[in-house]
Amino acid sequence: SQFQIAVVVGSLRKDSFNRKLANAIVKLAPPEFSFKQVQIGDLPLYNQDDDANQAESVKRLKAEISAAQGLLFVTPEYNRALPGVLKNAIDHASRPYGQSAWAGKPAGVLGASVGAVGTAIAQQQLRTVLAYLDVPTLGQPEAFIHAKEGLFDAEGNIGEGSKKFLQNWMDQYVAWVKKHVA
Ligand code: FNR
Repeated sequence: SQFQIAVVVGSLRKDSFNRKLANAIVKLAPPEFSFKQVQIGDLPLYNQDDDANQAESVKRLKAEISAAQGLLFVTPEYNRALPGVLKNAIDHASRPYGQSAWAGKPAGVLGASVGAVGTAIAQQQLRTVLAYLDVPTLGQPEAFIHAKEGLFDAEGNIGEGSKKFLQNWMDQYVAWVKKHVA
C-alpha cells in the first residue's frame, strides 16, 4: 500500500483492550493504508551506554519506524501517566542523538481505559514527548475510549456504539496523514 503505518500499542497484556482497539480501528481505514504493530515487549530497558551498540530488537524497531509514513499510538494510562514500556520504546528509537527514527512522522494518538476519564493524562503526556521529537500529532478529534461491554463485537470489530465516532476519527487521521506525506 501507499501509506504504511507503524502501530505502537502501550500495553503488553495479552488481552489488552488497547491492542484490540488497535486491531479493530485499522479495519476502518481505506485500502491504500496498511498497518503493522511494532513489537516493544522484547526491548531492553533503555541505557544510554548502549547507544553506540544498540540491541537487535532496538535496530528492528528503528527500521520499522523509519520505513513507515505515519504512526498510530494506542495506549493505556498507568497511574495517570504514560506506561513505562511505551516511554522505553520511544526513548530507544530516539537515539543515538541526531539519529531519531521518529522525526517528522505524523501520528495519531488513541487510548482505551476501564476508567471513565481514563487515558486523557497519558495521551497529553505522550503528545508532549512526541512534540519534542518533532512528531506532529492529530489534534482533533480526540479519542478517550471507555473499555466497556460492547466496545467490540464478537468478531473483534468496533461495536455499534462507537463505530461512527471511530470511523470519523480514522477518516480525519487518514486525511491528515495524506496531507503530511504528500
Ligand atoms: C491502571 N489503570 C488505569 N486506568 C486509568 O484510566 N488511569 C490510570 O491512571 C490507571 N492506572 C493504572 C495503573 C496500572 C499499573 C494498571 C495495571 C492499570 C487501569 C487500566 O485502564 C486497565 O488496566 C486497562 O485495561 C489497561 O489497558 P490494556 O492493558 O487493557 O490495554
